[in-house]
Amino acid sequence: MSKTNLRAIEGTRDYFDLEGNRFLKAIDFAGDLFRNYGYSRVHTPIFENTELYSRSLGAATDIVEKEMYTFKPGSDSLTLRPEGTAGVIRCYLQHNLAERGGIAKLWYAGPMFRRERPQKGRQRQFHQIGVEAVGSADPLLDAEVISMGLRYYEYIGLSQVELRLNSIGCQLPECRPLYRQLLLDAIRPRLDEYCPSCRVRFDRNVMRILDCKNPGCQELNQDLPKSHANLCPACQDHFAATCEGVEALGGAFQVDSTLVRGLDYYTKTVFEFTHPALGSQNAIGAGGRYDGLVEELGGPPTPGLGFALGVERILIAMEAEKSCACSYPLQVYGVTMGESARRAMAGILARLRAAGIAADMDYEGRSFKSQLRQANRRQAMLCLILGEDELTRGEVILKNMLVEKGPQETVSLFDCLDQVRKTLP
Ligand code: HAM
Repeated sequence: MSKTNLRAIEGTRDYFDLEGNRFLKAIDFAGDLFRNYGYSRVHTPIFENTELYSRSLGAATDIVEKEMYTFKPGSDSLTLRPEGTAGVIRCYLQHNLAERGGIAKLWYAGPMFRRERPQKGRQRQFHQIGVEAVGSADPLLDAEVISMGLRYYEYIGLSQVELRLNSIGCQLPECRPLYRQLLLDAIRPRLDEYCPSCRVRFDRNVMRILDCKNPGCQELNQDLPKSHANLCPACQDHFAATCEGVEALGGAFQVDSTLVRGLDYYTKTVFEFTHPALGSQNAIGAGGRYDGLVEELGGPPTPGLGFALGVERILIAMEAEKSCACSYPLQVYGVTMGESARRAMAGILARLRAAGIAADMDYEGRSFKSQLRQANRRQAMLCLILGEDELTRGEVILKNMLVEKGPQETVSLFDCLDQVRKTLP
């Protein structure tokens, strides 16, 4: 196999150094924040039965029609998950989480797979951080979920995220079906002015015409009836209460009647978080309510909602906003001379690490000088220096690297941990 064949597959990526740390931080921060709102972590498999996705996302969606990685071992048809919601709801049903009473608040993070055309912020293997709150139709929960998303971005140091909100109503005949009819009637007389994709959408899923990115279509769309003003009274009330709730929780937003989302399971509230650094793929996260999904997958009528945030797009925005350096600092670097000192240092580092201190040493046979250079390169805060003489005396030298020409002091090996703790900032 030639060397080029060993490169990462188009649309997939490696993360290391600063990006690797930011990746980890993005997920760590989510865990910390979502816990405060009562979410617990759920892990679901990376592949599921294909039918789970065709039934939940909708057979006529872009994802199901052309973007899924499906494979057929034996008589099964399995698919790498293109998103997380369907798997979480399958898990909710399979393990009867409803029986525990109350709302199930679950969060997840991991890779998703869609066979899209790769470009900036769009990959074939990408990562999402998601939440699902299942078991309540209360618009206050919509407001809580949405404002938690906004809080997350703030928390991670992004100040330019914007929120767009809309409602696409429910399946009652006087709600979305009626609105759809209004759209068909309004678009039909000017259909030939729309782009070819929109003309196909007209028959298949007329609401998707609303989020066409073609400037000509966008212009035509401005005159169309707005969904949130043409829904059944219950959905209009729900939307008003959601907007009020988000506002009360301090979230700024724009009502955007062109926001319809590309998945079939949505009902009522839909929203998107955008960031200016992302270019054409500007959704840094998105979500909505799915009051019919649990039933669609064989459960009792159960409302729910959630969102998923795109980790790759978070990383692009973090880079653009130079938000938090996200380095995990090395606190102590062990420098040694002689084999018994080296082995003793391994023991010292084990004690430091067990006490929660990030510590490392050389494993490549570097000279004493080169070990010190390595400590500098790794930006260690302290060095512990141990030679055979110090070892015999039961001592170690502690050098503060944060101060230029930092002081050195000799401390006893016995209370080295305490001394390190005292010296670290
Ligand atoms: P989605 O809009 O398909 O929704 O994806 C959510 C986010 O994932 C997007 O806003 C974007 O940041 C990121 N994303 C999607 N596709 C890609 C890609 N190819 N490359 C990089 N990032 C991408 C969902 O997946 C729903 N499950 C969200 C949800 C949860 N709704 C309710 N609960």
